[in-house]
Amino acid sequence: MKILAIESSCDETAAAVVENGRKVLSSVIASQVSEHIVYGGVVPEIASRMHAQAISGVVSKAMSDAGVGYSDIDAIAVTYAPGLIGALLVGVNFAKGLAYSTGLPLVPVHHLRSHIAANYISHAELEPPFLCLVVSGGHSHIVAVKDYTDFSIIGRTRDDAAGECMDKAARAMGLPYPGGVNLDRISADGDSSVYKLPHPHVDGSEYDFSFSGLKTAVVNIIHNSKQKGIEVSVPDLGASCIETVADCLVKNTVKAAENYGFDKIVLAGGVSANSRLRKRMAAVCEERNWQLYMPELSLCGDNAAMVGAQAYYEFQKGNVAGLELNAFATMPIDE
Ligand code: KG4
Ligand code: ZN
Repeated sequence: MKILAIESSCDETAAAVVENGRKVLSSVIASQVSEHIVYGGVVPEIASRMHAQAISGVVSKAMSDAGVGYSDIDAIAVTYAPGLIGALLVGVNFAKGLAYSTGLPLVPVHHLRSHIAANYISHAELEPPFLCLVVSGGHSHIVAVKDYTDFSIIGRTRDDAAGECMDKAARAMGLPYPGGVNLDRISADGDSSVYKLPHPHVDGSEYDFSFSGLKTAVVNIIHNSKQKGIEVSVPDLGASCIETVADCLVKNTVKAAENYGFDKIVLAGGVSANSRLRKRMAAVCEERNWQLYMPELSLCGDNAAMVGAQAYYEFQKGNVAGLELNAFATMPIDE
């Protein structure tokens, strides 16, 4: 079964053709980074307009790169939630138009479910059940993936997402957007023991996260140093910030795996590209003899191949939408 998948939830316009949920026949991504860089973050209105300009060409290229026509395609899939509403609507409306004109079924895909599915592309043998740490710019969840379309949230952030925390810390350190990636690069050789940061935890919940206090602590160190005329070492402060975030993510995931009885751990979402997080998670899994699956780096960020992968399993489950399909800025993964 070949699925044409479309993704436009944030600042990447993407389309892909994926066969049977696992084989990527084409994957095209038009990034808007250069448009948003001057503002230090994604400007939703600009994102929507850029998607509208790019989407037709991106979809055509995905089809021609895969060497297919619409008669070879079995379904059209699209990210419909969660994300920037104006951005999502561009992809949803384009997909609806295609479904109407071709008569093909329309498969709505949840963005975080598709991040998890990126792992089905990278690891042909991976099947649920497993425990997944999904960490992106907007979400930080520990999820029990009971089946391809059956999820239950074990832990979540109470405030900022891990990606958001690193993006804002990076911005305070004067690094350009996209902050998380640049912070990862610049702190590669940084010493994480130079700056002491609080390790936030949430009272009464051993699986939830809280990152807003950590972000504030980073900003305070920068301000205090400036007032005293002391230069901040961005590599060291960056290393400390990332290590603290990774520490919280890894500790809670390990607790959840132990208490819920998982020995198969999966990483997903943009932050799963982080080199320190990947190393830390690999180390704890090796110690415990757990299997660890992480998406290849090219599939960590937003792309449409992962949408095509998840759509295959949604379609098998009968999750097909009519042309009344709407986009939603928020939507739980387990609904
Ligand atoms: O999944 P994603 O591409 O988009 C959302 O669904 O939000 O995640 C984007 C987030 C951003 O916060 C970005 O800074 C972060 O992932 N990110 C990273 C790295 N690469 C992307 N954070 C830390 N280290 C990285 N290497
Ligand atoms: Zn994402």
